[in-house]
Formats: sequence, C-alpha cells, structure tokens
Amino acid sequence: MGREVLKLVKVKKRFGPVEVLKGVDLTLEEGDFAAVVGPSGSGKSTLLMVAAGLELPSEGEVYLFGRRIDLLSEKERDRWRRRRVAFVFQNPFLLEDFTVLENLEVFGKLLGVENHRRRSEELLKLFGLWHLRDRKPPALSGGERQRLAVARAVLSGAPLILADEPTGSLDRENALRVFELFRELNRAGTAFLVVTHNRDLLGLFKKVFKLRNGLITD
Ligand SMILES: Nc1ncnc2c1ncn2[C@@H]1O[C@H](COP(=O)(O)OP(=O)(O)O)[C@@H](O)[C@H]1O
Ligand SMILES: [Mg+2]
Repeated sequence: MGREVLKLVKVKKRFGPVEVLKGVDLTLEEGDFAAVVGPSGSGKSTLLMVAAGLELPSEGEVYLFGRRIDLLSEKERDRWRRRRVAFVFQNPFLLEDFTVLENLEVFGKLLGVENHRRRSEELLKLFGLWHLRDRKPPALSGGERQRLAVARAVLSGAPLILADEPTGSLDRENALRVFELFRELNRAGTAFLVVTHNRDLLGLFKKVFKLRNGLITD
C-alpha cells in the first residue's frame, strides 16, 4: 500500500439546507490514477473543492499528505496546498494578454518553482506547444488551451493533480490526448483525481469513484 495523498472521512457538505455530500469516504494513494463520475449536480466539483481545502466540509475530516487541513487557518491551508496540489478546470483561466510561454513563466515564478524558465520551455516541448510559444491564448484551439493548463499544473511540481472535467469542452481525440498526458505523468509518480464525463475513456483509469446521492458507491 502506498502513502496516502488524500483522505476524506465521513465528509458532509451543506449549502444552506441542501446537503450535497452526505458522508463521503475516499482515499487516494501515491501513484493512484482515479476518476470521479456521477450525474450533473451530484457534488463532484464540491468534492474536489473540499479535497483541496478550497471549501471546508460541514462535517468530517480532510487529510492532504497526512495533514488534517480542515482545521487549519485559511493561510496555513493555502501554504500547505500550494506546491502539493494543482488544479485543472474545464475552462482554464489563462492570462489572455500574455504569450503561451509567458503563461507558464509567470505562474512558475509566482509559485517559486526552481528554474521556472527552463522548466516552462521543457514542458511546452513535451506538450506539443513549443511552436505556439509566442502566440496568445485567444489564438489557441480548445485542445491547445487545455494542454497549456495541464502544462501549468505540471510546472507547479505538485504530486497531486485534481482535474474537474478537464476534457469537457474537447472532442474525443483531444480528450484522449489530455488523458494520455495525465497517464504519462502518473507513470512518473503524480497522483490524479479526475472528474470526467468521458465514459468511453474511463477504462484508462485504475480506480473509478461513483458519486451518487451524496455518497461514494461501488
Ligand atoms: N457555493 C454553492 N452555494 C450553493 N449551492 C452550491 C454551491 N456549490 C454547489 N452548490 C450546489 O451543490 C450541488 C452540487 O454541485 P456541484 O458540486 O457543482 O455538482 P457537479 O459538479 O457534480 O455537477 C448543486 O445542486 C449545486 O447547485
Ligand atoms: Mg461540476
């Protein structure tokens, strides 16, 4: 058994009177490559936000890399998460007035990534974006934008990547390409928890968590 990177224990999350998560137990270990599936509105995004400490649970416990984060102050939580967890969203937030290369460099500098210039260049090559380095995001396709968002997450060096429908706006070919990048990174040691609707690509994952009526079912 590997080391636990993420553990949710009996996590409940209420928004006003509505209980979205009703006692979720979930463990992710080093090297895991896991998907979260469930109907729209079932709480998948909420689950990721709570897992990352961007939202607090109403009840239950959240552990990130062995540390219970739901009891920390916001500042401590931010600091603990910063270089350990990276996010990829369905519609990535990119700096639209900066070039592709600058998008990585600025982010890397902000996070204090060592050799962020060189790493940014390496990642653009790895992700097939090097020839687009001087373009700005508005001139990229959906697949290219998403690959840039993944490159940015990887640049952080985080050992856990949480992705919320990262291929939701992509066609099958581009979705497959993004998932294959994920898988390569996973082979190199990064753990993944990915919310996805791509049912036909679920076979790529080693674990699938099904969220239904606020609970994880098998
Ligand atoms: N910040 C919030 N305030 C109030 N309700 C919310 C909030 N975030 C999510 N919800 C509600 O929680 C439910 C689950 O949302 P979400 O986690 O986005 O589901 P999914 O990602 O599975 O589609 C929805 O009914 C949604 O309206
Ligand atoms: Mg969602």
